[in-house]
Amino acid sequence: EVWNPNGKYRVISTKSMPGTRWINLLIQNDCRLEICTEKKTILSVEDIIALIGAKCDGVIGQLTEDWGEELFSALSRAGGKAFSNMAVGYNNVNVDAANKYGVAVGNTPGVLTETTAELAASLSLAAARRIVEADEFMRAGLYDGWLPHLFVGNLLKGQTVGVIGAGRIGSAYARMMVEGFKMNLIYFDLYQSTRLEKFVTGMFLPSPISYGAFLKASGETPVTWKRASSMDEVLQEADIISLHPVLDKTTYHLVNKERLAKMKKEAILINCSRGPVIDEAALVEHLKENPLFRVGLDVFEDEPYMKPGLADLKNAIVVPHIASASKWTREGMATLAALNVLGKIKGYPVWFDANR
Ligand code: DGY
Repeated sequence: EVWNPNGKYRVISTKSMPGTRWINLLIQNDCRLEICTEKKTILSVEDIIALIGAKCDGVIGQLTEDWGEELFSALSRAGGKAFSNMAVGYNNVNVDAANKYGVAVGNTPGVLTETTAELAASLSLAAARRIVEADEFMRAGLYDGWLPHLFVGNLLKGQTVGVIGAGRIGSAYARMMVEGFKMNLIYFDLYQSTRLEKFVTGMFLPSPISYGAFLKASGETPVTWKRASSMDEVLQEADIISLHPVLDKTTYHLVNKERLAKMKKEAILINCSRGPVIDEAALVEHLKENPLFRVGLDVFEDEPYMKPGLADLKNAIVVPHIASASKWTREGMATLAALNVLGKIKGYPVWFDANR
């Protein structure tokens, strides 16, 4: 699909993206936009090299693509100076290779924070109240009357939510669970970020003492919060643990067999970050051995596949990497990705987390 065929700058989007703002932005700024309409979901390096062709100023790509040496050298040979992932995560991008070939990299943070946190919260609730299992039960025609034991789950209020990775999304999730469900909070950040502390102390807990006093005055049990000194502390204390780190070599298999064994037998584990943060084979074994342990997974180690056995487990909720999938957010991501590429072409700043 070609827009503004006579545009000066050739920009490629490897996928069609939601909304029209991003398209208008590019074509109104003298870009010839080519949107790849190839049916297969994941494009190979060869597919993308063919798309780039002999002249290309910038590419908007997807997290399913492997942006390494080969693609950046092809883009640079074609005169390209800009690449933006339509994602906040950029573990599919070899930033050193991009630098080597003089290609600026962009990502799309911010616009997906609340949407992603909302999915983590949704999975937390769905797992705690066994919503998917109960839905399957109804559809299978198995409901034959109210029973005291039927799909009994966990009450969140007063339980402890643990957040690992207290950046933008982890902080927004923590706020939702604490404010919305009156959960106690424990969190750990690998980079010792103070972002969540600022959220906690600045936004919804003016200070732990005054917030506690407020809750007491309103007849509520005060919520407690603490920054853990180790990840294990979170694993041991939390009833629900949500993972929000970036994926890099320090967070690969962050949750492994040993760490799973440290969690409560009835804990709930949520992952809306990247699949390889969890050793998925170890998780499948853990879920089999601990039927009261539950997970809500949006991401998988070898997407689009799941490790054998996972799909058969009643204590796992699995969804296909949709954490950022709200209309507003996806349109925002597309717009930000287009702005990044256009920015580099026109000499404006490009948004990229790693540069900030
Ligand atoms: C991201 O942006 O990194 C998500 O995984 C997709 O929105």
